[in-house]
Amino acid sequence: MNDLEDLLQRNSNWAKSRKNEDSEFFAAAAKQQNPEYCWIGCSDSRVSPSQILDLPPGNIFVHRNIANQVNVNDINCLSVLEYAIYFLEVKHIIVCGHTGCGGIESAFNKPSSKFINPWIDNILKIRIDHKSDLDALSCKAERSNRLSELNVVNQIANLGNLSLVKDAWIKKLDLSLHGWIYNLSTGILRDLTGAVSSLSDLIFIRSLCTN
Ligand code: CO
Repeated sequence: MNDLEDLLQRNSNWAKSRKNEDSEFFAAAAKQQNPEYCWIGCSDSRVSPSQILDLPPGNIFVHRNIANQVNVNDINCLSVLEYAIYFLEVKHIIVCGHTGCGGIESAFNKPSSKFINPWIDNILKIRIDHKSDLDALSCKAERSNRLSELNVVNQIANLGNLSLVKDAWIKKLDLSLHGWIYNLSTGILRDLTGAVSSLSDLIFIRSLCTN
């Protein structure tokens, strides 16, 4: 028997129970998606957005990478955002970091790796920008979790600086950015930035990014 037989069986059970709850569920899902939210999160297996938000399929458009980054050179992230904003017309983009993030911890440990090192370069810069804040914290976990929060705020600033987002605001599209952090130990999300819905909100977020 194939090792992944269990996964296929889980899928079959899930599809059956969905159909039992709502016989039209898959017929409706196959026609179109109409999500109101776009999620930029970490690839970590413990922070699956539909699961932690308790949302059924169809509600959230998702992009994930190591340490939930928005990078102006990342065409993968940019194409997700363009589709979310201009085709799906989502109203909210959530950047969500989490405690105990391996990507964030890499900025302290600097592992020797071919691709992770350049990817976390931006996190390293945030760590250096906030060195005195972080050094004042007594333990390693606190420093890492604080850098996770600072990273979320910086990624919201990166997101707001994209012409994709600025143009949406200039065109008066209803679009807000939100920076959240997920606590792995409690399962609870916390809002770090409030709704960022305009260029003036963005100026405030930028002020939080510098020490
Ligand atoms: Co992570």
